[in-house]
Formats: sequence, C-alpha cells, structure tokens
Amino acid sequence: MPTTTPEPPRAAITGLATYVPARVVTNADLARTLDTSDEWIVTRTGIRERRAGAPGETTATMGGAALRRLLAARQLGPDDLEALIVATVTPDMVFPATACLIQDDLGLRNTWGFDLSAACSGFLYALTAGAQLVVSGAHRRVVVIGADLMSAIIDPLDRTTAVLFGDGAGAVLLERAEPGHGLLDFFHRVDGSGRHDLHMPAGGSLRPASAETVAGRQHFLRQNGRVVFKFAVTQMAECVETLLSRNGLSPADVAMVVPHQANQRILDATADRLGLPHDRMATVLARYGNTTAATLPLALEDAVLAGRIRRGDLVVLVAVGAGFTVGATLLRWQ
Ligand SMILES: CC(C)(COP(=O)(O)OP(=O)(O)OC[C@H]1O[C@@H](n2cnc3c(N)ncnc32)[C@H](O)[C@@H]1OP(=O)(O)O)[C@@H](O)C(=O)NCCC(=O)NCCS
Repeated sequence: MPTTTPEPPRAAITGLATYVPARVVTNADLARTLDTSDEWIVTRTGIRERRAGAPGETTATMGGAALRRLLAARQLGPDDLEALIVATVTPDMVFPATACLIQDDLGLRNTWGFDLSAACSGFLYALTAGAQLVVSGAHRRVVVIGADLMSAIIDPLDRTTAVLFGDGAGAVLLERAEPGHGLLDFFHRVDGSGRHDLHMPAGGSLRPASAETVAGRQHFLRQNGRVVFKFAVTQMAECVETLLSRNGLSPADVAMVVPHQANQRILDATADRLGLPHDRMATVLARYGNTTAATLPLALEDAVLAGRIRRGDLVVLVAVGAGFTVGATLLRWQ
C-alpha cells in the first residue's frame, strides 16, 4: 500500500486589516512646492496621491489602529494574542521597539514582541518569522504589522524621493492553517552591497545625530533611483521564478502576485518578465504610493476585498527593499 507523507504544519493569514491617515496629498499638492508635475509623477511612477499622518500620528498609532480593526473583525480581545512583530524603518524611536508601544497602547497583556528592520521587505520577513512561531507550536495567534510613517524621514525639498512615499499600516493574524492552505514556501535573500543605494545616512552608530548631520539633511532617506529600479526589476521576477519552480509551479498557476508597491513601471516590467497579464499584479500605487512595510498588506487587502483573491487561490507576495533585501512567499489563500 502506498504511504502518504503527512502534511507539515503550516501557518495561514486568518485576519487582515489596514489603516491609512485621513489626509490625502495629491501630485498637484506636491507640485505647489516642488519642481515637479502630476504628469511626470503619473507617467514615471503611476502614483496619483498618497496619505500623510496628522500631527501626533506615528508608526505605533497607525499600527495600533490597524491592529484594533483586525481584533474587531476577528472578534478577539487584547488578551488573545501571544506575539507581535512590527516591520518598520520608521519606529517611533530607536528604542524601545514599536512593538512594545503597541503592546502597551492596546493593553495586550499576554503578548511579547519585537521590531524587524528589512525596509520594503520587512512585512514579508516578519511574516516568515511569525509563521515559524505558529508552525513550531509555540504560539496559536501571532500578529504581524507592517507600518511606516515615511513622511517622518522624507526630505520635503527632494523631488526625487518626496513624490514616491506615503504613510500607512497593515496587520495580519497568523494561526495554524487548514490542510493544504496557508504559507507554503518562502525564498528570501539579502545583498548588503546595495547599502549605499537606498539608506538614511545619519542617526545610527556610524553617524550619530549632530548639528552637522542635521544641517547636511542626513536624517532623510537617500536613494539612487536608477540603480534601485534596475535591481528591483530583475530581482522581483527572478525571486518569483525561483520560488515557483522549486514548487513545481509556473506563473500561470498563480491567481495573483502581490508585489511591493514602489513604481508601476517596476510592476509592469516584472509582469512582462513573468509572462503575466498586468492585471494579475495587485496594485494600489495610484492611491497610496510607496508605504514601505505597509504596501503588501494594503495591496493584499485591496485584492481580497475586490474578490481577486479567493479561498484556495495560489498567491505570491514579493518584495525588494533597502539593504538590498529581497523576498517572495508562496501561499494558498484560506
Ligand atoms: C525614482 C524614479 C521614479 C526615477 O525615475 P527615472 O525614470 O529613473 O528618472 P531619472 O532618475 O532617470 O530622472 C529623469 C529626470 O527626471 C528628473 N526628476 C526626478 N524626479 C522628478 C520629479 N519628481 N519631477 C520631475 N522631474 C524629476 C531627474 O532630475 C532627471 O532629470 P535630468 O534628466 O535633467 O537629470 C525611479 O528611478 C524609481 O522608481 N526607482 C526605484 C525606486 C524604488 O523602487 N524605491 C524603493 C525600493 S523599495
């Protein structure tokens, strides 16, 4: 009699909620203070507007708001969570971790947690880390938040970056998956030789804050856009192909690719390389711009609410970010 190998335990996303600040900043708003135009921004990036936090809004308040919505949607209380991982490059402060602030703000009495720094791949890496806590049996309910208040680290005088980024947050709940469902595989890698192409030069132990670093505007994000663009276009497609082929799958088997949202041209080029119609790449770029760790939950929620991802569908999440960091995750939606 043939023996069947028992399926390994898996984690699944069993809840999803997001939060974006109310204030909308359009391309026309930016063109009032910067040498740019709606036409340039739309044709070069696909972005039409983004959100900006109000005074007092922080990464912790946005992440906390997304988590409150998640708990309400799943009818869970603050005592029901066991671990919380917050992916962000804009923590409220260097320490304590934003996870500690959210734990305290929401009164999550049974929850431990930490922050994870992997820039635009942060949500994906946190998902992988959180899933291991569920799969190992250590915890039943783990929350992963991707949240970034990019307006805190964007130079309002730099037209090459100020038009790209926005603020937002998303939270997912991870629990044991039903058979055949959940997170099936991941392929992540980092290439630190890209460290100077997308970074914040000062404020860490290398260049602590000083009058000179402030005068030199070194506490803002700096980017070598063309290098990052090329890297993203090749890596996103390669990463998805590697992940799919080692699972005996091809892009045609995937209902939806949910990519990190940086530039519509990167998404279209990735779709072309994969031989996928452009509408199989989820996009919310026009509305939110690049919200760093929040782009994947925002795009995922949009695709689910639109009925473009349904139970049983194969989905690939893929991201490229500062570091460089690269990652793709394969899942069967539950
Ligand atoms: C940043 C980015 C949009 C720039 O687009 P691009 O087509 O590469 O544009 P370039 O950098 O070649 O610049 C072309 C021209 O537009 C100008 N320009 C740049 N930003 C502009 C703006 N907001 N408005 C008007 N002109 C602008 C440049 O100064 C340049 O002018 P020049 O030819 O006179 O020197 C693009 O490179 C990009 O999206 N890179 C990847 C970003 C990314 O993925 N980041 C996050 C990764 S997690």
